[in-house]
Amino acid sequence: MNSPVTLNRHGDIALLRIDNPPVNALSPAVVAGLVAAIDAFEADTSCKALLLHGEGRTFVAGGDISSFDLPDFTTQPFNGTLARIEALGRPVVAALHGTVLGGGLELALACHWRVAHPKTQLGLPEVKLGILPGSLGTQRLPRVVGAELALDLIASGRSIGAAEARQLGLVDEMSDAAPLQAGIAFIEALLARGAGPRRISERAVATESLAPDFFERALADAARRKPFHPSARNIVRAVQASLLPFAEGEAAEARLFEELRVSPESKAMRHLFFAERLASKIPGLPRDTTLRPVRSVGVLGAGTMGGGIAMNFANAGIPTVLVETSQAALDRGLGIIRANYEASAAKGRLTAEQVEARMALLRGSLDDAALADCDLVIEAVFENMDLKKQVCARLGAVCKPGAIIATNTSTLDVDVLAEATGRPADMVGMHFFSPANVMRLLEVVRGAKTAPEVLATVMQLARTIGKVAVVSGVCYGFIGNRMAEVYMREAEFLMMEGASPAQIDGAVEALGMAMGPCRMLDMAGIDVGAKTVIEYGKAGGLPPDDSYRAVVRKMFELGRFGQKTGAGYYRYDGRKPVDDPETARIAAELAAQHGIARRGDIPPQEIVERLLYPLINEGARILEEGIAYRPGDIDMVWVAGYGFPDHRGGPIHMADAIGLPQIAVRLAHYAKTRGNPHGYWTISPLLASLAGQGKRLSDWQAA
Ligand code: 3HC
Ligand code: NAI
Repeated sequence: MNSPVTLNRHGDIALLRIDNPPVNALSPAVVAGLVAAIDAFEADTSCKALLLHGEGRTFVAGGDISSFDLPDFTTQPFNGTLARIEALGRPVVAALHGTVLGGGLELALACHWRVAHPKTQLGLPEVKLGILPGSLGTQRLPRVVGAELALDLIASGRSIGAAEARQLGLVDEMSDAAPLQAGIAFIEALLARGAGPRRISERAVATESLAPDFFERALADAARRKPFHPSARNIVRAVQASLLPFAEGEAAEARLFEELRVSPESKAMRHLFFAERLASKIPGLPRDTTLRPVRSVGVLGAGTMGGGIAMNFANAGIPTVLVETSQAALDRGLGIIRANYEASAAKGRLTAEQVEARMALLRGSLDDAALADCDLVIEAVFENMDLKKQVCARLGAVCKPGAIIATNTSTLDVDVLAEATGRPADMVGMHFFSPANVMRLLEVVRGAKTAPEVLATVMQLARTIGKVAVVSGVCYGFIGNRMAEVYMREAEFLMMEGASPAQIDGAVEALGMAMGPCRMLDMAGIDVGAKTVIEYGKAGGLPPDDSYRAVVRKMFELGRFGQKTGAGYYRYDGRKPVDDPETARIAAELAAQHGIARRGDIPPQEIVERLLYPLINEGARILEEGIAYRPGDIDMVWVAGYGFPDHRGGPIHMADAIGLPQIAVRLAHYAKTRGNPHGYWTISPLLASLAGQGKRLSDWQAA
């Protein structure tokens, strides 16, 4: 097999090319190729310098993440090669372009000089995988940019552009030329002026401006801000070790890296890295499916969701028209968008010019004829089937042939709405999450008749606007809200049994959930949640159980809509949720009404199991029904849309970590202790069968 690393020459210069598409990741074959190339360069003393460059779209985007799980994985061969590269007695230059990340930047830092294309992005993003730079990035970077900035870059994982890297001395020169030419020209100039090797490992970290308690405070800060991420603490310790002699720092980094690589947190985050990329691939849909152009977008309804949705497109430079029923609603919607942009400008995230440029891309209208020229129209009117059917029929008539019609419904039957348009092949669900301009998730709902190119276009568009798109089939609530429904069901039963919203939220927040179910619905709006339940009831979806979601319905009746009215499950002191005796009274009254026994303290472990196990069970049903293509899609939905902790890898990954037999046993336990007249605790056949076979949900594949 051809090696992904080749060594050629250009006059006196040896050219080491890395060619491992798509991103030149440092696979074992690349590392072996590097070793062989360095051997050859060392043997050939006729070359005066060595140039490293990457073929294709980038230099090297990092270590090969898929190899981290190999039983014999070790950074040793690569790290040893870096040491050999740095020790070479002839100048070694890295010609950088694309995304120089992780092990790619560590390779560049082992070289003596670096030249970069102006569009190059450089960074050490390992923290996003729950690890730390394990090939001396924590040791060499502080020696170039200082410990403080190095810690900031490594702990945040953010990338910097070539110009900033040049200012910091990370890059020696910028050049617009192709990497190979830029590198050769740089080396020729180096040789002409007689410059030789320079080794970062021989420098000391500048400590003059470092506060004496800098690392102590950084460690405390990491523990406070990232209590669930051991990488945050290990990164501080590794950067602190850069103050030691290089070899000692190297040993510390190796130990701290290995601790993280084998940690459950990093495994979960690596799982999500690949799940996110896999989610964009639709089985049976060729990669080269012809896309429909989307140059202009229309949004119907400028409420909470419509406004946020429109911002996504304006942010991506796509002109967007918002259509409303009244001037007042339109003015309010556009006013909120402007206020959001201005708030970003006040935080320094946008310039005043950018605010105006984005607002200029947004137009309002009271006439749906304004949607006639749009390539994509998304309806975001009230969640009401009759209204949405009328709206879809109107869009079917108004939108030009070939335009895509999308609905942002969070629960309604997309196939019914598709038929209402009269052109179901053009219809797809685009379920944004609130706030739509912030949340990364986009559930793309594939209707029975959605055309393949419509689906492919929307998946590509999701990338353009920076969303993680996950495809769902049609069912009540799709993947996310269908699972959230059983979660909320149990939260309300627990409340009626005597647990307070704070106890319920606290139990799952202790696992790292961004927000428990009660805070979540108070923020999204009790009215929104209640109306969904009511609509579901009208469609015949609810179990014959008057106690089902009784709390949300009561709260809605009482006008307790959550944060927006100052009270919901909690009472609000500004935006701070406070326990409200009124909620306890309502819950007790409902319990009495429905014959639900009240209990004293419900243990947090029971709360966790009762909230999460039915949710996992529903996830298994979603898989067996083919609503989600794969287990990782469900994990992505929950991490990107519902604040499920990334260090647990999503509910399916977490279920496998707990063990399916244990989950099956506990579901059976609650079926017995709580009773199961409506099938709330009935185990999904898939989960039962996998548990019986000792298998994992993550390994399940549709037949
Ligand atoms: N290892 C293995 N595969 C990788 C990879 C990596 N480091 N980086 C990207 N890939 C794969 C992706 O899985 C994807 O595969 P697919 O086509 O089969 O789905 C393909 O490359 C293209 O990736 P993207 O779809 O993400 O392409 P984009 O153009 O959107 O983004 C990128 C490119 C910015 C390089 C992005 O892929 C990325 O951020 N990659 C991860 C970078 C990273 O984390 N590097 C550090 C790795 S850890 C490390 O270096 C450890 C060392 O310190 C010891
Ligand atoms: P909203 O009540 O804030 O906004 C709805 C807007 O639609 C109002 O401004 C209303 O004037 C307008 N409207 C009503 N009929 C119209 C018509 N015929 N033509 C043009 N505009 C019309 O509601 P929200 O929360 O934005 O919800 C909209 C949709 O988004 C619903 O389907 C909802 O289920 C969905 N959704 C809501 C989420 C949330 O958290 N609020 C999350 C995800 C989806």
